[in-house]
Amino acid sequence: MSDYKAKFSKSALEKGDATDYKAQFPKGFLWGGAFAAHQFEGAYAQDGKGMCTPDYMPTDLSGEKRLMLKELKLDANEHYPSHVGIDHYNRYKDDIALLAEMGFKSLRTSIHWARIFPLGDELEPNEAGLQHYDDYFDELIKYGIEPVITMSHYETPVHLTETYGSWENRKLIECFERFAKTILERYKNKVKYWITFNQMNDITFIPSMAAGLIFKEGDNKYQKIYQAAHHRFVASALAIKAARKINPDFEMGMMVFANPIYPYDADPNNVLLAKSQERESVHFFSDVPLRGKYPAYAKRFFREHDVKLAIEEGDLELLEENTADYMTISYYMSSCASTNRGIQTTAGNVFTGVKNPHLEASDWGWQIDPIGLRITLNDLYDRYQKPIMITENGFGAVDKIDKNGKVNDDYRISYLKAHLEQMKEAIDDGVELIGYTMWGPIDIVSASSGEMAKRYGFVYVDLDNEGNGTLERTKKESFYWYKDVISTNGEEL
Ligand code: BG6
Repeated sequence: MSDYKAKFSKSALEKGDATDYKAQFPKGFLWGGAFAAHQFEGAYAQDGKGMCTPDYMPTDLSGEKRLMLKELKLDANEHYPSHVGIDHYNRYKDDIALLAEMGFKSLRTSIHWARIFPLGDELEPNEAGLQHYDDYFDELIKYGIEPVITMSHYETPVHLTETYGSWENRKLIECFERFAKTILERYKNKVKYWITFNQMNDITFIPSMAAGLIFKEGDNKYQKIYQAAHHRFVASALAIKAARKINPDFEMGMMVFANPIYPYDADPNNVLLAKSQERESVHFFSDVPLRGKYPAYAKRFFREHDVKLAIEEGDLELLEENTADYMTISYYMSSCASTNRGIQTTAGNVFTGVKNPHLEASDWGWQIDPIGLRITLNDLYDRYQKPIMITENGFGAVDKIDKNGKVNDDYRISYLKAHLEQMKEAIDDGVELIGYTMWGPIDIVSASSGEMAKRYGFVYVDLDNEGNGTLERTKKESFYWYKDVISTNGEEL
């Protein structure tokens, strides 16, 4: 048996052969962090910005008022966390200096669509919004931090929902294409890495937040969601097509959340269920933008859910000719699938499932599974053979400032360390991993609940769920740990 085969015949947990070989992160690995404009910028009415969907989502620990929006109305009795965020819009120079101090090589964030096109369907962009991101990218570049830019991370201008019903309407393709061309052209010498949409698969679980969709009684939810998804696939392909003309050096990425779904046990019914859930919740949304066509299994799914897609002439060719250059994923947790409905379920990031008895969970019930990250990276690389960037991974926890003004977040260090170890293993397995941007390096508003109490950062922000606090930034213990990780290119974890 060759060395290669001997290694793969061992258990996933064992190290490789009995040599002193040590897996390493590649040179030039993009270490960094990730944010989304609507979760940290605040300044919701500054410099001509329009309203976007999350601007109508109050803090709500149950998540109900955020994840399935019923109407677009502000209520004076509610607190809307996106309006202030962590005021990064006005404090970005100090915040970026903190990231630079940790040695960041990259920063993933989004350009807020409603800052550039406040209504979404205008023909001319808002210069103040464009200028802001020019200054922002200059600040990153000053420290040698590579911007990785998401074009749309839930920031759909609300006018597009009110006027056209958002992504269900083909009109949105044209609006997004104009937005994409504007920013690609404007920042062609400052930004190289792009992601068209945050987590394309979100649309099936949180369609309001992800795509500005609002549902009426009697709607065929599947029809509405998959039609909107088709429009976003086309819009993403058009953005990639435009990008190739504007700057052939651009790297054009796509993104899904990649929570693996294990069969609860070896019952073939559960194995089959896990596979079909994984296809429906994750793979469908990466197969189209990476393989350039609808997967064969979609036909049956559409028939069984009464989905009849309106696909216009040229759409399929466009998808085929404009696939993404690299894949990006978020990874927080895994779950299980079982046909037994009485079995205990688990909370989760966007997707929930059956609880895995082998795993611990965070205070929010998200199951902690570093090995699942290695499995996922291997599966996705086998499937697409495209470079992968992990553009979100992190640990939401309640942090406390002690009497000496310190935040000892060793639990966060343990979570991240365990995931980085598995990334190293995946690299050694042959996965082409090009970067890691940890989610929320400075505490930000939670997307699902709008709370501040669920903190991910290396830097603590003095702000509570009701919006009280000085917004002062304090470095946590993990700040110094991550700084060492980056400076040793992951050799010291
Ligand atoms: C990801 C989203 O799915 O999960 C982020 O892209 C989000 O926007 C992150 O913040 C963590 O979720 P939450 O609900 O803890 O903020």
